[in-house]
Amino acid sequence: MNQLSRRECLALAGGGSAALGLAGCVNAATTPDGDMPLGPPLRTLASEKGLRFGSAMSSGQLDDAKYREIMLFECGTMVAENEHKWYTIFPDPDTVNFAPADRLATFAGENGLTMRGHTLLWHREMWSPEWVNALEFSSASETADFVEQKISLIVDRYAPAIYAWDVVNEAIDDETGEFRQTSLSAKMGEQLIDHAFHVAKAHAPDATLTYNDFMSWESTSAAHRTGVLRFLERLKARGVPIDGLGLQSHSNYEMPNEFTRARQRDWVAFCDEVVGMGLDIYITEFDVNDTRLKPDIAYRDALIASYTRDYFDLMLAYPQLKEVLVWGMVDDQNWLQTFLPRTDDVEKRPTVYDSDYKAKSMRRALADAFNAAAYRQPMAP
Ligand code: G3I
Repeated sequence: MNQLSRRECLALAGGGSAALGLAGCVNAATTPDGDMPLGPPLRTLASEKGLRFGSAMSSGQLDDAKYREIMLFECGTMVAENEHKWYTIFPDPDTVNFAPADRLATFAGENGLTMRGHTLLWHREMWSPEWVNALEFSSASETADFVEQKISLIVDRYAPAIYAWDVVNEAIDDETGEFRQTSLSAKMGEQLIDHAFHVAKAHAPDATLTYNDFMSWESTSAAHRTGVLRFLERLKARGVPIDGLGLQSHSNYEMPNEFTRARQRDWVAFCDEVVGMGLDIYITEFDVNDTRLKPDIAYRDALIASYTRDYFDLMLAYPQLKEVLVWGMVDDQNWLQTFLPRTDDVEKRPTVYDSDYKAKSMRRALADAFNAAAYRQPMAP
């Protein structure tokens, strides 16, 4: 079948012709496990409920025609997987490299995708450039000037195209729940975080400003959840201009079939406290880890789809949940394959499309959850 233009795909999707799905737009109209028609794009189902839907994308994926088509069909928004990070933009003290982020911004602009920004300050030495980790500041104000210069350079280049920024990422130690220490916090302490938010607010006054972290429903995440709650309380008490919390929604250690009622209760208690502070919530990096599930594909996919439905049913019950982003659309291009590989070398199935670009039952679970959700007031455009 000839490839349809994006406008034709959108017309089909907008026309509500559920049986047409992605036929002709990419090479799959059905899932590998059946005859499931795709139906409307996920972004359409989400926006009918006041939600944004999108995915992470890397500049490398711009060269993958099938990946591009899936992004354009399914997503209304995108986030750069690594291109806004300091290690990409500031690889050494004398270089500023906007080229990969510019490519993504151009693609988004030309195709009507909105963009979320990730991240202005990844407050974790592991992911901060070595040269930044090695800096020794003489004072808080010297640190503040350095941070302001870096953050404003990024925000000024992309504002107002970016509607939301993960201003700070992963500032709380996931094992202890304590605020992490870096070369930047040495003189400033937590004032560093306040400063990052104030700088972002000054340079992108209309953007939604969020703190983003990977605390989760997992029992191994209890100290992390508590640490993040106390941290958010401190930010609110100091009047930091924060709009919401990004729930990355990776499951790092526990499996989809371990999303038990007890763990769900713990997670709901956490989310209740967050929204109780007047914060919105955003699912920013959803994917599913199947490390310890037996390799049979049908078995894994069934559990992954069932978990996806349960997780989203729980989360979509919050009117404060304003957007949903998945961390990549295609299995073999997801970070988990290399960061947390299975010991049996079998490919993981963490995303909504398989490595042949065919939609999986996980996608249907997400679509069903969007269909079942109540309408909410959308976040500002
Ligand atoms: O671009 C270089 C390439 O030139 C080089 O040949 C290659 C060799 O290792 O490395 C490439 O860079 C890698 C980069 O991804 C792009 O693929 C880095 O090594 C690798 O560390 C980096 O990993 C990213 C990771 O964050 C660290 O920044 C993952 O792609 C990305 O998915 C992951 O995303 C994070 C979120 O930002 C925050 N939340 C958790 C999430 C998953 O870890």
